[in-house]
Amino acid sequence: MKETRIVKILKETTSVGIETIVNVKGWVRTKRGNNNVAFIALNDGSTVLNIQVVVDIDKFDENKIKQITTGTSLSVTGKLVVSTGKGQSVEILADEIEILGLADTETFPLQKKGHSMEFLRSIAHLRPRTNYFGCVLRLRHAMAFAIHKYFNDNGFFYLHTPIITSADAEGAGEMFRVTTLNLDNIPRDEHGKVNYSEDFFGKPTNLTVSGQLNGEMGAMALGKIYTFGPTFRAENSNTPRHLAEFWMIEPEMAFYDLQDNMDTAEEFIKYCIHYALENNFDDLQFLNDFFDKELINRLQTIIDVDFIRLSYTEAIDILINSGRKFEFKVAWGTDLQAEHERYLVEQHFKKPVILIDYPKEIKAFYMKQNEDGNTVRAMDVLFPKIGEIIGGSQREESLEKLLSAIQERNMSQDELRYYLDTRRFGTAIHSGFGLGFERLLLFVTGMTNIRDVIPFPRTPQNAEF
Ligand code: 4AD
Ligand code: MG
Repeated sequence: MKETRIVKILKETTSVGIETIVNVKGWVRTKRGNNNVAFIALNDGSTVLNIQVVVDIDKFDENKIKQITTGTSLSVTGKLVVSTGKGQSVEILADEIEILGLADTETFPLQKKGHSMEFLRSIAHLRPRTNYFGCVLRLRHAMAFAIHKYFNDNGFFYLHTPIITSADAEGAGEMFRVTTLNLDNIPRDEHGKVNYSEDFFGKPTNLTVSGQLNGEMGAMALGKIYTFGPTFRAENSNTPRHLAEFWMIEPEMAFYDLQDNMDTAEEFIKYCIHYALENNFDDLQFLNDFFDKELINRLQTIIDVDFIRLSYTEAIDILINSGRKFEFKVAWGTDLQAEHERYLVEQHFKKPVILIDYPKEIKAFYMKQNEDGNTVRAMDVLFPKIGEIIGGSQREESLEKLLSAIQERNMSQDELRYYLDTRRFGTAIHSGFGLGFERLLLFVTGMTNIRDVIPFPRTPQNAEF
């Protein structure tokens, strides 16, 4: 008999049919009872909710039922009935129980509830079996789906950009090298430098830090595109908001200026949050009840408010006049730290903020230069609890200005030959941004550490699992 998913039994009880025989397969969360009857809470991952299996011990081999402990995988067949107990609307009266796999009580680590997040990180291969991570992983899926849906419904095309590249899109130099050279015997040229012509691609290559440059090629042909893929940064930041491998969503739109870009970013992120509230309420309710009592409230509020929009220069004034003692000093020209971003969002405005027109020195070469000669048309979307969730900009469409930005930064014009061609042939204003997928998930789940919203986190000194 084909199993029925527990979510279907609980949410679509009438269509499944009371008094019908069903089969469920899943893992035991708890077992309680006495010599006559056992109650097994079974979870199959389709929902945070368990189905209760009622076992009349007389009908079974008692020793077999004794073997069933937390973590055991079971196949249960029985009649679906309205429950007379409290805590569940329906339950299954077991006719047949097949033990698929036992879980040794002595060694299965998820016996009791209330493990710390740190401990669960050390068993990342088993933590999806907990309610927390079940919720997080279902939400992660839902957000990925919502993102594709938003863009598809709005006329964007999904563009696959390369993972291996020779470009440093952000110019920050935080790249993981990709090589097949023998590190124990590196080929050198006559100056003693590494001879990359002998490497796999005949030149230095790395894992991408952003798909944007390729994304721009797509937008300058298809009009509106987005990328959604893994991104790598070798920054040695051991913070609750940085991963060495994270997923980024990068839409890029031809004929959009910064204003259009901000409108798109705000609408898009609200859409994702709305989608979670509409489609994953049980998961959010669980996280709200057991992890973060403000979660659902916070999500609802974000959808209802208009994001504040202001310039970097205005933000610096607010920070300086705040009278606050920050760990990092505030001065025009320096990059904002998370503490500054969170002050603006959480204390000053109490709303998400979109900051624009940053000093050109702290932003990447491709951003559109403002008339003032000092700032560029950058935008960062700042969120409560997170700080920067989106980074983007209007792009410089003038070949001449782009060339001078490249020169100022001592970057290789030759490497960017293909990129510059978009400005040579049919250039047009265009804009885009990057949303850190795990930062979005931090916000949507209420988790406080980015390591807890990706199944297998990669951070400095940690590539386990
Ligand atoms: O601000 P960033 O560096 O912007 C870009 O890469 C642009 N090329 C995007 C674009 O315009 N197409 O990164 C974008 C976002 C950040 O706002 C943040 O949410 C996330 O990516 N991010 C990280 N998330 C997790 N771990 C890290 N180490 C991250 N670095 C950036
Ligand atoms: Mg940024």
